[in-house]
This record gives sequence, C-alpha cells and structure tokens, in this order.
Amino acid sequence: MKSQQELFDLFLRELKKEQEKIDNASPGGLYKPVSYTLDMGGKRLRPLLVLLSTNLFSEKVEEALPAAIAIEVFHNFTLLHDDLMDNASVRRGKPTVHLKFNPNAAILSGDAMMILANEYLANSPAEKLPGLLKLFSRTALEVCEGQQYDMDFESRMDVTVDEYIEMIRMKTAVLIAGALKLGAIIGNAPENQANLLYDFGINIGLAFQLQDDWLDVYGDQNIFGKKIGGDILSNKKTFLLLKAQEKLQGERKTQLRSWITRETFLPEEKIEAVTLLYNNASVSEEAQQLMHYYHEEALKCLAKLEVEDANKKNLIELADQVMSRIS
Ligand code: IPE
Ligand code: IPE
Ligand code: MG
Ligand code: MG
Ligand code: MG
Repeated sequence: MKSQQELFDLFLRELKKEQEKIDNASPGGLYKPVSYTLDMGGKRLRPLLVLLSTNLFSEKVEEALPAAIAIEVFHNFTLLHDDLMDNASVRRGKPTVHLKFNPNAAILSGDAMMILANEYLANSPAEKLPGLLKLFSRTALEVCEGQQYDMDFESRMDVTVDEYIEMIRMKTAVLIAGALKLGAIIGNAPENQANLLYDFGINIGLAFQLQDDWLDVYGDQNIFGKKIGGDILSNKKTFLLLKAQEKLQGERKTQLRSWITRETFLPEEKIEAVTLLYNNASVSEEAQQLMHYYHEEALKCLAKLEVEDANKKNLIELADQVMSRIS
C-alpha cells in the first residue's frame, strides 16, 4: 500500500498535466477562472480519499486517477457557485471568482468544470463506468439538494438540528462518502466493503462540515482562508446557531432573534454580538462533542472493514486530520 504522501504526489502530477491543458484553452474568459481556481490549491482531501480507497483493494491506483481528478474538479466547481450564492469574498486566501472575474464567470466556468469532471470520470476503466457514473450523478444531485436546503434555511426560524444534519449530509458528506465509494468500486471491492467506506465517509463528512461551521466563527482567517463570520452574516442555520437558539433564555434569546431578523446592521457589529451570544451559550463545546461523536461512528465503520489493520492506518490518520484541521 502506498503512503498518503505518495498518493498525494501522484494526484498532483496528474492534476498538473490537466491544468496545463486548461491554462492554454480558449476562450480565456471561460478557462482562466478554471485555472485560477485549480491553481489556488486546497487540501485535496476528496481525491486523496478516492486513491486511498482504491489502494485498499488494488495495487493499480493509477486506474483511479480519472475519478480523483473528476471529484476534485467537481468539488472546485461547487465552490465557485457556493461563493456566489453565499456572497463570499475570500477563498483559500484569495478573492473569489465572482469578484476577481465577474458573477457570470463563476456561473459559466463553474458549469464548464462540472462538465469537465464528467469527462475525466469517463476515462475510468470501461467495465466500471456505468456504476461510477450512476454514483457520481446521484452524489452531484444530492449536493445540489443540500445546497438548496442550506439556502432555504437562511430565511427559516424553525430549523431543527435533525434537519441541519440532513442538510450537511447532502451538501458535504455525500461527496466525501462518494469519493471513497468511487475508489472502492475502481479497486474491485466487494459491495458491502464499498458501503462501509461510504458510511465512514458520511460520518467523517458530517464532522468535517461541523468543523467548517465552527471555523467560520472561531477560526483564523489567515489560515482558514475564508472570511470569518460569513455564516453569521447570512443567518446560516449552523449547529452553533441552532444550539444557541435552543439554549439561550430571556434577554439573550431576544437579542439573538433580533440580530437574525434585523435588515440593516454593521457587519462587524453583528459578528461580534452573535459570537458573544454563542460563547454565552457554550455552543462551541457542544459542536466539538458532536464532531467527536461522528468521528467515533466513522471509526466503528472502519473497524468492520475487512482489510489488514496496517492498511487502515492511512484512513485513520486522515480522519484525525479532519478532526484537528484549522484550514
Ligand atoms: C470547502 O471544502 C467546502 C466545504 C464542504 C466546507 P474544503 O475545506 O475541502 O476546501 P478546500 O478544497 O480544501 O479549499
Ligand atoms: C459547503 O458549504 C458546501 C458546498 C460548497 C457545496 P459552505 O458554504 O460552508 O462552504 P464554504 O465554507 O464556503 O467553503
Ligand atoms: Mg460558502
Ligand atoms: Mg454555502
Ligand atoms: Mg463554511
């Protein structure tokens, strides 16, 4: 089994080849934003999961490179549209595409990336393609459904924690789970093993989005690479907000409600005030606890996986990295 670093390097070499083609493609108005996005890095978590998963069952990890590229390009596409929808100005420490270029670029270059992702996936081993395409399309559609719930929830005041979990399962966790299952299919894993990896991914994905929401309030902008407080400004119904709504009483409850319903405010003032209310309600600790719960659930799935313990090390390490990430 290859090390995490070896798989990472393998992926980066392949991505570079694809990027070179995109860098020189015309029209520039369509492809420059794609190059810009793929160039700005990111953790490359999802492609690594594809390769790790394949490598659990097969030595031929190269067969999983098209799917790894596809999943990373798809993920990057979602970011272009997400930043436009979330009105976000900074991503990976750089101006977001709709600001650096324009909103239409975020839409059309994003669309092109989604199509490119399908094109890359089609280079996977032919006999696996029907299964891979079915899983990829279903996953992509669920991400859209999750995004729609995320947006719908902005203007709803009665969102429950269960609804929130279901929303982040769709917008974030299914892509992480899907990456693992694509890899497993390419590695010829038995179906029950592929499904265990999928469930591992769902749990890691839920922890991942909980951490993302936590970092959006408590992270360091220079390391996180995104503006702190964006979720507060757009009234995202994160676990932190839902728990604060539930736990705060009296005057503080009224204050929180007033900040969420207010039409005009100074952004910095709202972020500061809502963060203070979160602190009053100790919701940070609750979020950490829930993350740990999903981490434990993820490890239970791995324990059931029928591969050598030594080979599970990579995934266990990756799960740890997700739990402690600050970027
Ligand atoms: C950002 O994903 C979108 C979420 C699902 C929270 P990542 O945090 O994996 O973004 P990059 O690719 O590393 O920048
Ligand atoms: C992530 O949601 C989900 C998708 C990008 C599909 P966020 O809106 O929290 O992601 P960031 O924080 O902008 O990366
Ligand atoms: Mg966003
Ligand atoms: Mg969003
Ligand atoms: Mg976020």
